[in-house]
This record gives sequence, structure tokens and C-alpha cells, in this order.
Amino acid sequence: MVTSMGGKHLITLQEWTNEEIDTCLDTAYDLKLKFARKIPHASLRDETVFMMFFDESTRTRNSTEAGATQLGAHAHFLDASKMQIQHGDSAKDTAMILSSYGHAIVCRHCGWGVGNAYIREMAKYSRVPVLNLQCDLYHPMQGLADLMTIQEHFDRTKTQGLKVSIIWCYATAHKKPISVPVTQALLFPRYGMEVTLAYPEGYELPDWVIAQAEENARKNGGTIRITHNIREAFEGADVVIPKNWGSWYADSKKVPTDEKRAGNTTLTQEELERLAKNKSWKCTQELMDLTSENSIYMHALPADRVNEVEDSVIDGPHSIIYQEAENRLHTVKAVMDLTMGGRR
Ligand code: CP
Repeated sequence: MVTSMGGKHLITLQEWTNEEIDTCLDTAYDLKLKFARKIPHASLRDETVFMMFFDESTRTRNSTEAGATQLGAHAHFLDASKMQIQHGDSAKDTAMILSSYGHAIVCRHCGWGVGNAYIREMAKYSRVPVLNLQCDLYHPMQGLADLMTIQEHFDRTKTQGLKVSIIWCYATAHKKPISVPVTQALLFPRYGMEVTLAYPEGYELPDWVIAQAEENARKNGGTIRITHNIREAFEGADVVIPKNWGSWYADSKKVPTDEKRAGNTTLTQEELERLAKNKSWKCTQELMDLTSENSIYMHALPADRVNEVEDSVIDGPHSIIYQEAENRLHTVKAVMDLTMGGRR
């Protein structure tokens, strides 16, 4: 257990040690029990959290805002499109000023090619912790909640050798960042899991992600393999995470977009055509029946219930999506408690 996480930023879980992640999960379990028992736990009384959102959110915004209240802090919701960022305030100036008013800056910026850089720039200048609520590359808060949910289901000490499949699925709602599969592919091998990454051609994760995931697996006894066969990913899996993500390589060829605008998530004609070829990549009941007896279906949400997954799966006995979503509350509270209120 680590007792000095006060003042830490959370941009990616890759920058936190396993010991720090475990301390965070220990804290999340403790806070979850307190929440269940209505035991007050206002460790951040009178503190202020600035919540900057460049993109839409249901779970992340509300778990963070409710969590801050439950910890005794106040969270300001800041819609980035209504801030002076629109008239030229830089990430540096925004971070310098907000950090002089309060105790943490949390930010969601999923703009492809710019979100992570923006949050890192704020962290460079902030006097208080900067917490990434999802960017174009990473979603550490989702990763923590997912790990907690898996550990709750299978027992915390038994993740070694667990077969976890991260599976691309067809969806047309909007162009989703690669941040969830990237975070999971990097994190799960650190807990000894046997990770399968399944996707059709054109939806590769960046090479550096795979190289890092392989390194994480090598150091921690996990594995990572890639397949382009969806059935193979479901066969014998203990955990399936079928979810859409946008095409990183197609987008990375474009010039990075202006940091001022919200995430460019509208699908282009080229992207729609690439998607159309892969409509068969859907989580069906028939595929779910190939998984292990005690398997779980996970999804960070929002799900495209028409295209990504059949209702019988997402509403079925293996689905654990609401527990996964609830754990967003307990884990973000743990992160705020340790980084804002923890010892340095
Ligand atoms: N999973 C997740 O981040 O959900 P929101 O986009 O609703 O915050």
C-alpha cells in the first residue's frame, strides 16, 4: 500500500504503479462500503474541483460531481465551449488560474490528436492534481472501474490467467475514441490476464500500444494476442468487452484539429464505408453462448443497442454493466480522496 499519493496527477494508469492502483482500489472498496452503509466520509470538506468538459458525458460527469459532494467538496461543471478557451485562453493559462482557485482540475477532452496533449499541458502548469476524465488516448477512470468490477466478480486474488476479450463492434452513433480499449489493453495484462484483442482490418490500435501491452504482460505474467476472428475472441472467454471504436490510423493521417472545439466525432463518408463492411461484428447471443459458464459481459456505455449488441446479451444474466457503471463512482472518489486529500 502507498501512503503518499497526495498531489499526483492521473493522466494514464501507465504512469501509476500497480501498488498505487491497488491502493486506489482498496480505497474504492472502503468508500463503497461506507456509501452502502451511509457512513459520512467527507475527507475533502470545503475543497473545490473544477470539472472541464469538451465532450458529452453521463457517467463520468455525474459520478465525479456526486462523488465530490459525497467527499465534502464542491464540483464546478465547466462546459469548455462556454469558457474563454473559445477566445484564446491557453491550457497553461487555464490551469494556472483554476489551480489558484481550488484543489483539483478534472478534464474530458476527446478531440482526436489533441485531447491528451491538452490535459498534459494543463498538468504541467497546475499547482493541484489534474485528473483525466477521458481523452483521445486514455480513459483511466473507466479502467479503474473495470478492474474493480472484474476483481469483484472473480475474486481479487484470481485475475491471473483470466481470459479477457476486448472486441471491436459495429456502431454508427458517433466516432468513439480508442481510449477505452487502449486503457484496458495496457492495464489488464498487468494483472496477469490473458487478453485477446479482436478487430477487423482498419481498427488496429497504435503499434506503441501493443508494444507497451506486451511489455506489461511480460513483466506481470499476463499475455496479449490479436485476432481478426470474432468467434475466436468469444470462445472460452471469461470476460467479454465488445465495443466500438474509431479508426485510429485513418484519423492520424489528418492534421490535428483545433484544440478549441469539442471532439470531432462526426463520421466521414470514408469512415461510414469502412464501417459498413464490418456490420457482422456484433455481440450476439450465439457468440455469448461460446463464452465460459461464469463469464461476464462488460461495456463502458453508452452502448449502441441496435448495432453493437443484442438486447438479450446486454440485458441478460452475464451482463454486469450497471455494477461497472456504479463502480465509476467509487473509483473516482478513491482517486480524488488520495490525490487531493492524501499525504504527499
Ligand atoms: N463510460 C463513460 O465514460 O461514460 P460517459 O461518456 O457517459 O461519461
